[in-house]
Amino acid sequence: MLSAENISKSFYSDRVENRVLKDISIKIENGRFVCVVGRSGSGKSTLLNVLSTLLKPEKGTITFAGQDITNLPEKKLNRLRHNDFSMIFQFHHLMTYLTAVENVLLPYMNSLKPVAKATMQRARECLDRVGLGGKYSRLPGQLSGGEQQRVAIARALVKSPQVLFADEPTGNLDKTTGDEIIKLLKNLHKDGLTIIMVTHDLSYTSFADRLLVMEDGIVNEVKAGDLRM
Ligand SMILES: Nc1ncnc2c1ncn2[C@@H]1O[C@H](COP(=O)(O)OP(=O)(O)OP(=O)(O)O)[C@@H](O)[C@H]1O
Ligand SMILES: [Mg+2]
Repeated sequence: MLSAENISKSFYSDRVENRVLKDISIKIENGRFVCVVGRSGSGKSTLLNVLSTLLKPEKGTITFAGQDITNLPEKKLNRLRHNDFSMIFQFHHLMTYLTAVENVLLPYMNSLKPVAKATMQRARECLDRVGLGGKYSRLPGQLSGGEQQRVAIARALVKSPQVLFADEPTGNLDKTTGDEIIKLLKNLHKDGLTIIMVTHDLSYTSFADRLLVMEDGIVNEVKAGDLRM
């Protein structure tokens, strides 16, 4: 279970406060596929970043698996982000000079030790899982946009996370390619992954277990069929 209790977050420019999250509380049970929608600038990315510990709220608590993770020391936060949480974004942030499999191995590149055989095998399996078997050695520039996003998903999976945060993962892709990425996420969800996804495309919300609409710094839960925007 991932939960936020009374979280608030503001940004300031010229001392003017922009209250982006206003006292938000939500609980997300394990294994859920949660979609977050709302106007541009309504705070979706901010909410995702606060839930995934990339951004600290000014007030409130984030709890994961029974532990208060709001103010964990950096070392423990890194471990959490490394082992339990994973993120994918609109732009995939792949290293252009590394091959697909090397990009997937990036979460292991924090030591100078050579990568263990089993780890390499795991990276390949993740690429197989996203349909890129046989393209291990391609550079990002030799892959299509959808394939590049698949590599980013494989990289997000390599540590077997519990929660995948996805901020508009199809935002940079055409509809057909976006549909394929969503199909892939659905399959990962079926296998037990908790997914929290921000999307602009309302057609992707129909299969979500839960639909959260952000408006004026507040989150409203709605039934997929009731959505009017
Ligand atoms: N690092 C920052 N510094 C200052 N203001 C910020 C920062 N990040 C976001 N904001 C502001 O907070 C508000 C919410 O931004 P956020 O990125 O969460 O919106 P969003 O719903 O994800 O929008 P979009 O759909 O365009 O991605 C906006 O007014 C934005 O300008
Ligand atoms: Mg955003």
